[in-house]
Amino acid sequence: MSTDTTRRIAIVTGASRGIGKAIALRLAKDGRHVVLVARSEGPLNDLKAQIEAAGGAASVLACDISDAAGFAKAIEGVAEKHGRIDVLVNNAGITKDGLALRMSDEDWDLVLDTNLKSAFVAIRAAARAMMKGRFGRIVNISSTSGVAGNAGQANYAAAKSGLLGLTKTIAKELGGKGITCNAIAPGFIETDMTANLPAEVKEGVTKLMAIKRLGTPEDIAAAVAYVTSDEAGFLTGQTLVVDGGMLMA
Ligand code: NAI
Repeated sequence: MSTDTTRRIAIVTGASRGIGKAIALRLAKDGRHVVLVARSEGPLNDLKAQIEAAGGAASVLACDISDAAGFAKAIEGVAEKHGRIDVLVNNAGITKDGLALRMSDEDWDLVLDTNLKSAFVAIRAAARAMMKGRFGRIVNISSTSGVAGNAGQANYAAAKSGLLGLTKTIAKELGGKGITCNAIAPGFIETDMTANLPAEVKEGVTKLMAIKRLGTPEDIAAAVAYVTSDEAGFLTGQTLVVDGGMLMA
């Protein structure tokens, strides 16, 4: 890993593809050293090479964020190696959709552990280093499903709503230490997660939006770049809905 202690250190989970990859590329472009987290090392190594080829800095941290103890240790390792953690983007997430009445305990637990508990674990592990530096920017990637609910996503919507409560509480607990915590709730973004939805569903959703197109990972990365910037120090406890004007329809 880099021994450069002057750059802000930004951890991005779920960085191997989709929204997380776009966030990592954007934060690296903005001069952060990005710690790339996902389960498998291969795609992260490729992304690290891409970032470095463009003059940026990155390191790879392969781990399963649903393993709370292992994930916490991995984050503590980042603080030890770099001597600081400035930015934490809890982006990694999964879906296991199904109607609530038919949903298994396993699918409930897996989605809650991966999408909600992991964020709590990461914040708890990273906050110490942030407090030492009296600076921190935490962003939890929620979803419009967490703001409004969504049939077929009881587990996912509960986890994503849970992130909003976690966000406000952390904002209150750590605000006095120079640490902000905000949530971003993306609407419909074109990634692997949404790739298999039928064309009619995508068309129907697009019609509901004020901006008549689906979102891109870069749309979300731009919001994360602002919320995690040094100048966003007065913005905390908020949920930024980045959905092309879908929820207000
Ligand atoms: P994606 O499925 O393309 O990528 C998910 C990332 O999370 C991958 O890098 C994957 O390796 C990582 N990941 C999943 N489980 C993991 C685990 N146990 N340990 C480590 N890494 C793990 O998803 P996408 O679309 O990029 O979504 C990113 C975030 O944005 C998720 O939290 C998702 O819920 C949220 N979101 C996505 C929307 C969309 O329309 N695509 C809409 C609203 C929210």
